[in-house]
Amino acid sequence: MAMETTTTTELPADNNNSVIPLLTPYKMGEFQLQHRVVLAPLTRQRSYGNVPQPHAAVYYSQRATRGGHLITEATGVSNTAQGYTDTPGVWTPQQVVRAVAAEVGAGRVGVRLSPFTDYMDCHDSDPEALAGYLVDRLSDVGVLYCHMIEPRMAIVDGRRQIPHRLRPFREAFRGTFIAAGGYDRAEGNKVVEEGYTDLVSYGRLFLANPDLPRRFRLPDNRTTFYTSDPVVGYTDYPFLDDDAADSDDAGADK
Ligand SMILES: Cc1cc2nc3c(=O)[nH]c(=O)nc-3n(C[C@H](O)[C@H](O)[C@H](O)COP(=O)(O)O)c2cc1C
Repeated sequence: MAMETTTTTELPADNNNSVIPLLTPYKMGEFQLQHRVVLAPLTRQRSYGNVPQPHAAVYYSQRATRGGHLITEATGVSNTAQGYTDTPGVWTPQQVVRAVAAEVGAGRVGVRLSPFTDYMDCHDSDPEALAGYLVDRLSDVGVLYCHMIEPRMAIVDGRRQIPHRLRPFREAFRGTFIAAGGYDRAEGNKVVEEGYTDLVSYGRLFLANPDLPRRFRLPDNRTTFYTSDPVVGYTDYPFLDDDAADSDDAGADK
């Protein structure tokens, strides 16, 4: 289970007049989101002794934006459910979805399902059926959101493509739907615009770009590829303002 939080840090003004679907507001239950770029749960193995540390507060606050939805890393629900060392854990007998919903209200509970995962030799023989059943039950409980990961990306014409196989679950689930798995800015905008999902969560991109929603505000540079302005779309792209970006060990693909 992951904890979630809605946070309050200023986003910069939009510097492009066109609508960016990922950056449109969305009402998720009682939470008024200002954009649809969600931090995916990312295990970072820095919770010594299974207890989140002060540096986790720095990490999550770096990724906080006004009205943004952050999902924290997976929190183990039993001492046998710790897949990695130094991950957070809370274990009491009352940790199944219905019990949590009864305690805090279903409108404050979200669930992530990864039916297509085949990680560490763990896979299901009929993931569609299993996930379909779970999505129906989650709808019955009335949980706030259902967050699902796409199957592994397929290589089509030499390029990686998101399979987009979550539609049946999105249509069956009656709350907020969050899609994840291989999305970038363009794909995220497309699926929000099409109504394939309400929100998109980003893992690796958000990990390496703490200001990801802000970066998504940059206008699509296609329109300025071949224009003649000596500045716009040419020399006006912003740099990261963190000096550490220039150090030897930052940003290198090792
Ligand atoms: C470092 C790292 C840790 C992750 N930890 C978890 C996790 O604990 N629980 C989980 O459900 N997914 C976890 N994921 C998967 C991400 O939440 C996400 O679904 C995945 O990275 C695909 O999205 P992306 O293509 O935007 O990165 C992790 C991914 C990464 C890269």
